[in-house]
Amino acid sequence: MHFFNYRKGVLYAEDVPVKAIAEACGTPLYIYSYGTLLRHFKAYDDAYDGIPRIICFALKANSNVSVLRVFAKNGGGADVVSGGEIFRALKAGIPPYKIVYAGVGKTEREIRYALRSKILMFNVESENELVEIDRIAGLMKVKAPVSLRVNPDIDPGTHPYISTGLKKHKFGIPIEKAFAYYRLAERLEHTKVVGIHKHIGSQITKVSPFVEALKKTLLLVDELGRHGVQIRYLDIGGGLGITYRDEEPPVPRDLAMGLVPMLKDRQLTLIMEPGRSLVGNAGILVTKVLYLKRGEEKEFVIVDAGMNDLIRPSFYGAYHRIQPVEKKKRKSILADIVGPICESGDFLAKEREMSGVKQGEYLAVMSAGAYGFTMSSNYNSRPRAAEVMVKGKRFALVNTRETYRDLIRGEVVPRFV
Ligand code: LLP
Repeated sequence: MHFFNYRKGVLYAEDVPVKAIAEACGTPLYIYSYGTLLRHFKAYDDAYDGIPRIICFALKANSNVSVLRVFAKNGGGADVVSGGEIFRALKAGIPPYKIVYAGVGKTEREIRYALRSKILMFNVESENELVEIDRIAGLMKVKAPVSLRVNPDIDPGTHPYISTGLKKHKFGIPIEKAFAYYRLAERLEHTKVVGIHKHIGSQITKVSPFVEALKKTLLLVDELGRHGVQIRYLDIGGGLGITYRDEEPPVPRDLAMGLVPMLKDRQLTLIMEPGRSLVGNAGILVTKVLYLKRGEEKEFVIVDAGMNDLIRPSFYGAYHRIQPVEKKKRKSILADIVGPICESGDFLAKEREMSGVKQGEYLAVMSAGAYGFTMSSNYNSRPRAAEVMVKGKRFALVNTRETYRDLIRGEVVPRFV
């Protein structure tokens, strides 16, 4: 469910015509719907009513400070994977005691920053990292709160690039080894075991992999309990899919119905790390048609957004719906919708049947709120897009379009050149 709908053939973001925003702010342009963000957040929160919980939004999906602020104001926390994300989360007003920190390659600087900030816990991904965090905590004369990210070896049935919970992946600690690592963590002087973490992949469209992974994780929690290792926070990761095309993923309540029965009567605080399912359908990318080009074999619609703005189609072969901002009665065409970048892989859609478009018109790339702007780059020296948030009849820039000056900010030419 989202609030990008047509009224008499005109696409609206909540109560504002998308075209009006595009004309005011230029393109390419990301537009986020406040109402959709809030609705998605509440859907998660309500689904787990009665269970102590923290919804730690995965910043990697969308780290715009205003987006984070919406969640922060409603009690949300953050799942971060870098010092930069800790910085953003804190800037947005997310309290440090609601921040969990994952990632296989945390640096000393990042670990120090996290300890100084007093985050809730480190989701530790290897034995060496555990020892390193303990060492740094010792130097800082603090205790590091840790949870171990266990790898439950469950196939989430998703794109290989975004599946993470199998043995062959770099993530987490094999679940069979986790017990021994917990015993080690208990012995470390500057470490305090507080939780357990798992995350098996992304864009998962079934409940069963979540259930299987939780079952395995809880077996370990029980075994730890029998040996006196108390787990307070159970972090089940993120990964719930969304509808890009015709997928029918479970909604948060469906997922909760699968998981909650296993969590009843346990002294645990549940942590969730949804990313895509909170923001994916709450954002669109608006782009302008620059040229139409009839190739030898097919038509090309050349637009002003490229793979640097939205890399998902090029990188994962991901499907995003592309809709006209104003519907016209025209003959449909079969076209590749491509960007201006000098790569054949620069496309937003391939062989897409769509209603005919004209130069100068706008298109909306749907479901672009997750892993859209955050994965964008300056490739081909293209300034990154602007971002706007809409709430009802109001809209505001929440990130200014980059300028050419921004492109060379920080670059220096040494004397010897
Ligand atoms: N927690 C951890 C530890 C993660 O690694 C991720 C995503 C999440 C939570 C959030 O997962 P979500 O709820 O968004 O599925 N760039 C790819 C997706 C990469 C996901 C990486 N990890 C894409 O555009 O599809």
